Amino acid sequence: MVYIKDLAKHVGNEVTLKGWLYNKRSSGKLQFLVLRDGTGIVQCVVFKGNVSEELFEEAKRLTQESSFEVTGIVKKDERQVGGHELDVKDLKIISIANDYPITPKEHGIEFLMDHRHLWVRSRKQWAIMRIRHRIVKAIRDFYDSRGFTLFDPPIITPNAVEGTSTLFETPYFDLGKAYLTQSGQLYAEAGAMALGKVYTFGPTFRAEKSKTRRHLTEFWMVEPEMAFYDLNDDMDLAEEFIEYIVQTILEERKEELEILERDTSNLERVKRPFPRISYTEAVEILKKKNHEFEWGNDLGGADETVISEEFDRPVMIHRYPAAVKAFYMKRDPENPELALAVDVIAPEGYGEIIGGSQREDDLDELLKRIKEHDLPQEFFEWYLDLRKYGSVPHSGFGLGLERTVSWICGLDHLREAIPFPRMIYRNTP
Ligand code: 4AD
Ligand code: MG
Repeated sequence: MVYIKDLAKHVGNEVTLKGWLYNKRSSGKLQFLVLRDGTGIVQCVVFKGNVSEELFEEAKRLTQESSFEVTGIVKKDERQVGGHELDVKDLKIISIANDYPITPKEHGIEFLMDHRHLWVRSRKQWAIMRIRHRIVKAIRDFYDSRGFTLFDPPIITPNAVEGTSTLFETPYFDLGKAYLTQSGQLYAEAGAMALGKVYTFGPTFRAEKSKTRRHLTEFWMVEPEMAFYDLNDDMDLAEEFIEYIVQTILEERKEELEILERDTSNLERVKRPFPRISYTEAVEILKKKNHEFEWGNDLGGADETVISEEFDRPVMIHRYPAAVKAFYMKRDPENPELALAVDVIAPEGYGEIIGGSQREDDLDELLKRIKEHDLPQEFFEWYLDLRKYGSVPHSGFGLGLERTVSWICGLDHLREAIPFPRMIYRNTP
């Protein structure tokens, strides 16, 4: 069996392809069957003069998404999708699809979401999934080739990491309640003290009550954590990482970006160095643009968009008011009102893709924060141990996979950036 992506190697030869009918049209003695096999699409031409009467009639039975096997000669044809065409000699139907619900006409988004299990077969969704996969590989390659060790954190956890308002709760035998992890970071910190540089990469959960295009309740996050890195080292790594992902996709997923009609000129500019501004400078930008905002508040999606419009590539905003950030962040020694935090904001209105910080490495300070945030100290004893036994400065960040996919693909909403999205109002199919 040959795959459509390899047809260039078979020009002039007879091959057998297997797949599904994407589309078809006919005119008298000719039937044009567009076959997709998961690796690409190709037009198969059934000419009445080349095949038996029975086979010509059999081919007419094919409906959209019916599965079939087809044998023919590969011809080069630049005008066709994929650059090839198949001159059909034989054809076998595997299974007829009756009334496939997603037709070439326009469908509403809720209808498509209800049929997500079928929608993933369509061309744009195919392109997005192939870009997502390549981004995942780029992420792994980036860390694996820089001395990082993959360190898998648990998903079932006894406490919150990123605030208690977005915790998913589950009963847990005799131990009472457990929670789905919001972030692997605290465990990654233990890993960094053992292995130096680690990363976690897996699903994380937030009971987000927000119904925005940027929020899922289940999303994937990659979290590097590095011993002996300060905030500047953290930012250096973050910009090198984002540049690597974007440039890799530009090189390796050209066809998919074309299918998505992505304007890649904006992505081509994603090169180091990225602008770095403090939170206070970001607030000044908002003021200058007459965008209402008060120093001390957290930056929301709309604020981020206004700030990002000032720059032609991702912008790093550092040193936020500690009050709006997580308990584990180290305070700025020059102004303890500020946390040594960094958020990376994607261009074109895609908002925050990275959140990170230098971590509080002083035992007493950290204890104080846990109390201030009203967190149950008993569940953090192991985390405090990391400060008791050879504490060192360390930093890390988390990159949201779906936000990154959505930005690179130019999508309107995160729901198309993951095979089966989970949102406040949807947990099917
Ligand atoms: O900024 P966040 O909450 O940071 C953390 O979880 C840290 N513990 C990371 C670390 O320092 N190791 O989340 C990190 C990123 C965000 O920038 C965003 O890209 C993504 O995770 N994210 C979401 N993506 C989709 N849906 C949601 N509800 C998301 N919440 C965060
Ligand atoms: Mg954040």
